[in-house]
Amino acid sequence: MRTAVLISGKGSNMQAMYREGIHIDLVVADRDCEGLKLAHSLALFTRHIDRKHWQEKEGANWRQVFTGALIQVLEDHNIGLVVMAGFMTILSGEMFQAFPNRVLNIHPSRLPLFPGAHAVRDTLAANPRPTLTGSTIHVAGPKVDDGRILFQTTVEVRPDDTEESLTARIKQVEHAIFPTAIREYMLHLAKTAR
Ligand code: GRF
Repeated sequence: MRTAVLISGKGSNMQAMYREGIHIDLVVADRDCEGLKLAHSLALFTRHIDRKHWQEKEGANWRQVFTGALIQVLEDHNIGLVVMAGFMTILSGEMFQAFPNRVLNIHPSRLPLFPGAHAVRDTLAANPRPTLTGSTIHVAGPKVDDGRILFQTTVEVRPDDTEESLTARIKQVEHAIFPTAIREYMLHLAKTAR
């Protein structure tokens, strides 16, 4: 199954997929980011669909146009599975019509707790502060950080944790579970497609 990874940041989960032997056919970044450089260094095929460009060009309608451009690129590359690995653009509903049950996301909390772009910060700011958090891998749909949960792990929140230290420990766990979850989901898709 041809697989695309969508990134906006460091790309460490993309790297974990690569390291574990998941074939990545295409990497799409919505901004110039470290992950894009990393993808180049791994000799992965990349596309940069700059969201800023669409925001400036399209105004209020940019999200739909951006999503349309992304769908076009994914279809041009015959992509069957889309993995959002730290992708920070909310896509419009057309994405999930074009790729129903074919988009996975990883989120650094135990959903439905702490959805949104600042999950780790929000976890640390919560009162009372939870002693456990984790990461969730789920099937993505039009509602942000929602959809069928495939895998969830637990990470301890330490009293002296900062956003950086907790993010780093969550990522360590993510790198161990994400490739396995993706592989299992690929098998599931292959079975149900028969
Ligand atoms: C991960 O922690 C993931 O849960 C969240 O964004 C982060 C991406 O990190 N959605 P990286 O770019 O893979 O290093």
